[in-house]
Amino acid sequence: MTPHSLRSNRSIQASICLTVVLMIGLGATAAAANPARVLVLATGGTIAGQASARAGNAYDSGKVSAADLISAVPDMDKLARISAEQISAIGSQDMNDKVWFDLVARIRAAIEKKEANGVVITHGTDTMEETAFFLSRVLETDMPIVLVGSMRPSTAIGADGPANLYEAVKVASAPESRGRGVLVVLNDTIHGARWAQKTNTTSVETFRSRDAGPVGYVDTGSIRFVQPAAAVRAPKLKLPDAAPLPRVDIVYSHANMDGAPIEDAVKRGAKGIVLAGVGDGNTSKGALEALAAAARQGVVVVRSTRVGSGFVNRNVEVNDDTLGFAVSLDLNPQKARVLLQLLIANGITEPKAVQQAYVATW
Ligand code: DGL
Repeated sequence: MTPHSLRSNRSIQASICLTVVLMIGLGATAAAANPARVLVLATGGTIAGQASARAGNAYDSGKVSAADLISAVPDMDKLARISAEQISAIGSQDMNDKVWFDLVARIRAAIEKKEANGVVITHGTDTMEETAFFLSRVLETDMPIVLVGSMRPSTAIGADGPANLYEAVKVASAPESRGRGVLVVLNDTIHGARWAQKTNTTSVETFRSRDAGPVGYVDTGSIRFVQPAAAVRAPKLKLPDAAPLPRVDIVYSHANMDGAPIEDAVKRGAKGIVLAGVGDGNTSKGALEALAAAARQGVVVVRSTRVGSGFVNRNVEVNDDTLGFAVSLDLNPQKARVLLQLLIANGITEPKAVQQAYVATW
């Protein structure tokens, strides 16, 4: 089957409603040759995108079903026995706590029932790093969990989805991927969830791990990890019984900044605020005063940076000890937000304990 002959989104709706589990291309010979089992959980994104009539290069995310995505990739059945389920069919700009909780529940069930050697999650690239980081903070397992997406829809010339998906299944089914936490695979590169970051709006070479480098490389023939598996692991955080996670807002700092966006966030009920600060996580006097006032009211304040790489340091330009702030170190604002949501959900709100949790998150 070619990508152009992929079925329409009607099949996605059906598979979401029925949570149908499909065994894909399971030839007896292939299955016998390679006993690895991989569970593919599809959430949508460009990898499942199809051309739209809107404009020449327009497309709609999340239109192709998990089963059809897999059928479009030759020789997948030689890598592993694959089962596929549709968890959602959304562009990842709409990613939300409900899908995150559903993913965790499904992966935990797979671990408990020993259903798979690895899990692959197909996902839009826009918020992939947040989902990967979230899963890495709550899932207690050595099983490889690999997020994959694409920058071009399945109907585009030079679609990158099929190769990325093949390589993701290859990584998820490989014994050497065990114990490496949650991974992101795109463009022949393997990233750790803590560092993976989308850095380019359209290039297939968009994911980078700027402060650490990729953990490895993959092609159709080989997997090469270039970093050892992390020796120390941060303790996992408990997930509340049901979504949503506590509200944490990101406030973006800029020239001519006042405290209004921070005051607004507090009024809207934010339990935490992450500052996407300038430079070393800094902001204007007015915004700092508003942040300090928020912290005095019990809102947890974490300073991160809009810069895109590097570490935010404590007590250099901003007196965190006095003002009651924590810093995110090298976690970007969107990941710092996810961690703060989980910390608040776990009752960790005292600034020193919050800071310790960011230090421990390696
Ligand atoms: N709508 C965006 C998303 O699903 C497109 C980006 C992508 O998937 O690459 O994240």
